[in-house]
Amino acid sequence: MSEQSGLTRRRLLQGGAGLLGAAAGASTLGGAWAWAAPPKQAQAIRDPFTLGIASGDPAPGGVVLWTRLAPEPGAPDGRGGMPNRQVAVQWEVAEDETFGRVAARGTALATPDLGHSVHAEVAGLRPGAEYFYRFRAGPELSPVGRTKTAPQVGSRLDAMTFAFTSCQSYTDGLYTAHARMAEEDLDLVVQLGDYIYEGPGGGGAFRTHEGSGEPTTLGGYRNRYAQYKGDPDLQASHATVPWVVVLDDHEIDNNWADEVPQDPSVQSREAFLARRAAALQAYYEHQPLRRTSLPRGIDMQLYRRLAFGDLLDLHVLDTRQYRSDQDQAARLDGTRTILGDEQEQWLKSAVAGPTARWNALAQQVFFSQRDFAGGPQQSFSNDAWDNYVGDRNGLRDHLVAARTSNPVVLTGDVHANYVCDVKADFDDPASATVATELVGTSMSTGGDGRDQNPADAIQLAENPHIKFINRNRGYVRNVVTASQWTADFRVVDAVRTPGAPVRTRASYVIENGRPGAQPA
Ligand SMILES: [Fe+2]
Repeated sequence: MSEQSGLTRRRLLQGGAGLLGAAAGASTLGGAWAWAAPPKQAQAIRDPFTLGIASGDPAPGGVVLWTRLAPEPGAPDGRGGMPNRQVAVQWEVAEDETFGRVAARGTALATPDLGHSVHAEVAGLRPGAEYFYRFRAGPELSPVGRTKTAPQVGSRLDAMTFAFTSCQSYTDGLYTAHARMAEEDLDLVVQLGDYIYEGPGGGGAFRTHEGSGEPTTLGGYRNRYAQYKGDPDLQASHATVPWVVVLDDHEIDNNWADEVPQDPSVQSREAFLARRAAALQAYYEHQPLRRTSLPRGIDMQLYRRLAFGDLLDLHVLDTRQYRSDQDQAARLDGTRTILGDEQEQWLKSAVAGPTARWNALAQQVFFSQRDFAGGPQQSFSNDAWDNYVGDRNGLRDHLVAARTSNPVVLTGDVHANYVCDVKADFDDPASATVATELVGTSMSTGGDGRDQNPADAIQLAENPHIKFINRNRGYVRNVVTASQWTADFRVVDAVRTPGAPVRTRASYVIENGRPGAQPA
């Protein structure tokens, strides 16, 4: 990233007014918008870009541009204040933020059945290049966003910097770390789930959810997203860098598994499936996902691979839609699954190669063994790979057998930073380290956080392959080169008072060809 683009990013980020004020300022750009007059029907729309803009799923020379028209984001009917008809939305991509060098433009139809969301899949751009984008609906211009396409598959890429983030309960705290993340020099953000919370985050209410109770309908989920997406720090984070997203449980229901809700005595199977379909549609409507992820009923294709030159393959996994129900007593039962057979075969084939230098498995829940109980007793999480030991060990052994190049598992969910050695045998500390797991803390869930809990000493003692635990809020910044992967655990000390600065709590390095991370 050049110094010039660094300045550009700062200008984009001159506070909420700077970012959101871009629409007003854009009217002075005049001739850059060489489009025909918008349809008359659209001219009644006022300020439709209240939910911000985003880009995502970068491909070589392409990216998805997202927005959703919602002049009244919390409208009780879930329609965002939009009329029940389709609206033409024009998009424009340029090499410069004043749109003097336009690279592509087009029109997308925002339709009522998809909440007037826009998912423009732009292709034909330069690979590995920075671009700026904006939308127009009627006379209204959106803020200006920055994005970056992926390099050509297999082409030489010397370095890449990306962050991963998860667990952003709105009621638990501010998105200060999103503001700090937006100030980083990033090529990509990966969101590992719990983008919204259907219920309380668990840290005690700091802000309140709008609407009564947990959403179960499409309108209810739309309005939950609308509340989250109204946050200016989250908007800044989306507007400055492309995101790759995948959901976890709270986008639907805590700890759901395939067709089973958390508590079947509260929700019937039929009610849960209707809820799942509504929640998946709302997720699609609010994320920069490709058409291939458009939900079909209760199903949504989210596992996928994104390639970044010869440097990084990002295998995005879905550990929710296909998993067997949680069952502690059956955690060793090899017939149970967390990936489902189809995804497991796809992943095993993908990591068998040919691949890039680094293979990141971007997924939701804790992969490495984690015994919570002190002494000879053992106790494991119900909701993690420890509850699906057959799948976990099978994938781990496959990474070894297939000689997968530098596997790094990326994890969210547990609201804490961890660094783990993935062992050939987790019960034998002397066994080989065969992969690395980096676990990222929450953005806000749990409130302000702290360095560690007293019980973390037990976890560290019981699990020698766990090298680091920290419970501040933040995100993980990764600087990846051909020779090493550096993970910086970026934390803020408070999310319940605004403006906290970010600091690097710890840095760990993985060297090419040597699984396991060492303190930098
Ligand atoms: Fe969470």
